[in-house]
Amino acid sequence: MSNLSQPNVGEDFIRFHRIITRGLEVAIRDINEFLERGSIEKEKLEGFLNYVETFSSFLDGHHKVENQKLFPYFKPLVPDVPYVQLMKEHKVVESSLQEINSGINSLRSKKDEINSLNKLKSNFFKIDQIWYPHIQIEETQLFEKVGSLGIDRDEMLRIQNKFAEFFQENTGPDYLVVPFALYNSSPEDRAILAAGFPESVTQKVSRDWKDKWISMQPFLLK
Ligand SMILES: [Fe+2]
Ligand SMILES: [Fe+2]
Repeated sequence: MSNLSQPNVGEDFIRFHRIITRGLEVAIRDINEFLERGSIEKEKLEGFLNYVETFSSFLDGHHKVENQKLFPYFKPLVPDVPYVQLMKEHKVVESSLQEINSGINSLRSKKDEINSLNKLKSNFFKIDQIWYPHIQIEETQLFEKVGSLGIDRDEMLRIQNKFAEFFQENTGPDYLVVPFALYNSSPEDRAILAAGFPESVTQKVSRDWKDKWISMQPFLLK
């Protein structure tokens, strides 16, 4: 079990997968519900768009960290991972995320609601097909091995910070991404995640940023 005295980026990334998996399930569930209903409930529109847009940013940022930081770091240490295949799958997901972003823009400008929802549905379905076998490879062949590679605590903290910084630079806005991460996590994962943020950030989530992310609450965990 993870704790703060034993940083482990492999465990961090498995936790990020759980956040993305929940985001994927929630988005698909709600898109189907809205399509069955024939429209998006007015009071849920803003929150839904923020939620899906933040999911898209989070998943895109996750892949960028893997491609540009994590895979190059671990390749010499764990060479037998199908890195090329994993990066090809990231590319396929990236094109679906671009379609999803364009669907969100149409919905924001109140254009073609049903067509846009169908566009979201088909692209979320494509991601869903890739996601589970993809993370199975990453987790079993790489992330679960990180703890036994002999990386010392200081080095683990250094790469943890490096990856976090790069992720932050490639995602946003933070007032949506941070609450998205915290409240798509189970209470146990959330406590570990929150402990990694400066206190000022967790305070912002509960105060200054609250008005900005609260629309996503119907889609988040308590
Ligand atoms: Fe990946
Ligand atoms: Fe991943």
